Amino acid sequence: MRAVKERLVQSFEERFGKEARPRYFVGAPGRVNLLGEHTDYNDGFVLPMAIQQEVNIVAAPRDDGRVRIYSLNFEQDAELHIDRLSESTGPRWSEYLRGVLVVLQDAGFAPRGMDLVLYGDVPAGAGLSSSAALEIATLLASSAVSGFEVEPTLAARLAQKAENEVVGVNCGIMDQFASRLGRKDAALLLDCRSLDYELVPLKDPAVRIVIVNSNVRRGLVDSAYNERRRECEEGARLLGVPALRDVTSREFAQQRDRLPDNVRKRSQHVIEENERVLSAVEMLKKGDLVGFGEAMWASHASLRDLFEVSCPELDALVEIAREVDGVLGSRMTGAGFGGCTVSLVREEAIERLERAVRTEYPKRTGLEPDIWVLTPEDAGAFVEPLS
Ligand code: GLA
Repeated sequence: MRAVKERLVQSFEERFGKEARPRYFVGAPGRVNLLGEHTDYNDGFVLPMAIQQEVNIVAAPRDDGRVRIYSLNFEQDAELHIDRLSESTGPRWSEYLRGVLVVLQDAGFAPRGMDLVLYGDVPAGAGLSSSAALEIATLLASSAVSGFEVEPTLAARLAQKAENEVVGVNCGIMDQFASRLGRKDAALLLDCRSLDYELVPLKDPAVRIVIVNSNVRRGLVDSAYNERRRECEEGARLLGVPALRDVTSREFAQQRDRLPDNVRKRSQHVIEENERVLSAVEMLKKGDLVGFGEAMWASHASLRDLFEVSCPELDALVEIAREVDGVLGSRMTGAGFGGCTVSLVREEAIERLERAVRTEYPKRTGLEPDIWVLTPEDAGAFVEPLS
């Protein structure tokens, strides 16, 4: 973190001149979802966690409405203007920043001009919400330099709106909410209808969260995601409820035969996944990590067989994890069709899992995995004034 800050400050001075010192250092994390997949846009429950990978920005205000941005990842400049935010002329990555400024203005805030340098180490396209992290970091930078505050839940909603309406991706609320409100040593239980949330501690030193990137490029993801959303809406319509959140698995059992095949499978996943989240949270609170792990395996099977958003590589990673003694649970995480798995692993089994994944996964798929073990150090969104 310190190293990133120094790099950003140095690059800021190189870009914008020594007299223009950055005034704020902000960060917003990526997230890994422990349980509750494809439930957020069904008004359901999710259980993500902030990870230590994040997007960082150093920023200074300007009086002339210009927004000058330099991305260290892309080694590229972009420029926007506060009075002309409807113009989309910059590189694709700058659309996330433009989107956030647009929705802030629409919501009645007055974002000022600013100079920014940004850098993120959340891998893009891996299902760890690098875009949500960029949106939340932008929102925090803009509010800090402009002197207004955005209540955290509203910040998440505005960032989601930026992604939906300006970037053009039809995501739910989970990623932005987790980036704004998540903390790494706790799972964030979120009710995606009321936006009530609770941080459930997950800091038993005997277990760790391990993320494995399949490194499969997620090609199909946008069209399949929208198709799944439509199927879920159709399920709710045929079941006569506002959202699949409103159906219990008992009610579903009585009605399921009325639904077309795919709609039935998608609905069953969502309904059972919601129940899994709620019961797994109770287990977590009681310290029943074995039970929690069981819910993760079950979630993966359901995403593979009913929701049909897994892929052979993610299935291979979960199967490899299954064979390792001391892995309590493992599943695909995020939208699917590639990206990462998340596993709950006993401390003493971490090395065994890493070894198994590094030897078996390339053999089965021809791909090299990346492996991250979440450390107990703190994570979560922050704003730090610079002197
Ligand atoms: C993506 C979306 C989220 C959520 C997940 C699936 O990450 O951005 O809103 O729908 O997929 O659970």
